[in-house]
Amino acid sequence: MSYIVRPIRQDEWPLLEDFLYEAIFIPEGFEGKLPRSVIYNDPKCRAAFEGFGTLPDDRALVAEVDGEVIGACWVRTTDGYGHIDSATPSFSISIYRPYRGWGIGTAMMSRMLDELLEAGYTRASLSVQKENPALRLYKRMGFRIVGDGADETEWLMVRNLCGYEISIATPDSADVIYHLVQATLRAVYPDCYGPAVVAAFSRLHSLDVIEADIAAGKIFILKVGDRILGTGTVEGNHIMRVFVPPEEQGKGYGTRIMDELEAIAARSHSAAVLEASVPARAFYLNRGYRVTGTQTWEIGPCDDLPAATLVYEVMEKEL
Ligand SMILES: CC(C)(COP(=O)(O)OP(=O)(O)OC[C@H]1O[C@@H](n2cnc3c(N)ncnc32)[C@H](O)[C@@H]1OP(=O)(O)O)[C@@H](O)C(=O)NCCC(=O)NCCS
Repeated sequence: MSYIVRPIRQDEWPLLEDFLYEAIFIPEGFEGKLPRSVIYNDPKCRAAFEGFGTLPDDRALVAEVDGEVIGACWVRTTDGYGHIDSATPSFSISIYRPYRGWGIGTAMMSRMLDELLEAGYTRASLSVQKENPALRLYKRMGFRIVGDGADETEWLMVRNLCGYEISIATPDSADVIYHLVQATLRAVYPDCYGPAVVAAFSRLHSLDVIEADIAAGKIFILKVGDRILGTGTVEGNHIMRVFVPPEEQGKGYGTRIMDELEAIAARSHSAAVLEASVPARAFYLNRGYRVTGTQTWEIGPCDDLPAATLVYEVMEKEL
């Protein structure tokens, strides 16, 4: 099957009505023809096509065979099926029947995902009837189920566009988190703190403490593929233990972890608080934190290391 995928032209915008109608899943055994009125009577359906092209996040690609448009794949951030929030474009896609199963859907979706990534979106969403075979395509394209959609007959799916994922840490990741934290603080802290303070931080983030915090649901991890490349902890509105190893720093991972932790804190508090380490001070100030005071940590002698006093800054940010 020879086809081309290209951006939709303005004079083709009205075609999206038809492609939305084609996108509606007809379950096995359904007799008769679905009335076209369904797409006009349901506000969530209308949100997928009404006024298309007039909103900033509206984007559409079409597939053409022999000069005829036979499929469309488009995104909007309007309140349709699959809508999550105003920063997450939601997909609609369909192809006329004779052209299904030839790889055209895959081609349109991957080009749209590339374009969204290029444009700086960090995730995309969609909803799909649980029985729709298109679910397999969406899984292959990297979408994962995050829960039910508008009702229990459909899935809500999300595709991360940055190659990483943030999730709550599970007990099997305790060891990796522990080593990541220990390796990072050993690599970074000696530039700013003496050996007694570095050793005290190392004891503070012991494996036992990390395991207990995981069990309490406080630790989050940033994963790229199977690799854990960052972590952060939040308890109420108190953000702690944000670590990204030196070789992974500067890639935006710390920012993403902080976004997540602050979003969690914002559910129950109007401000987030943290104790800033010297190396992370500028990072927090850039995020809008301000110093609200200092605290003193008296570190007793341990092993061969003498006692030490650490004065550190406490910071706060309105959420
Ligand atoms: C979903 C759709 C856009 C995929 O495009 P496509 O060109 O057929 O897809 P590809 O050939 O690239 O990939 C094949 C995959 O498409 C899906 N697919 C194929 N035929 C399908 C059909 N009749 N209905 C739904 N999905 C179908 C399956 O997931 C299939 O994967 P599989 O081979 O593992 O079963 C297209 O099949 C379609 O228009 N289906 C009906 C409308 C629809 O269900 N839209 C999605 C609403 S959420």
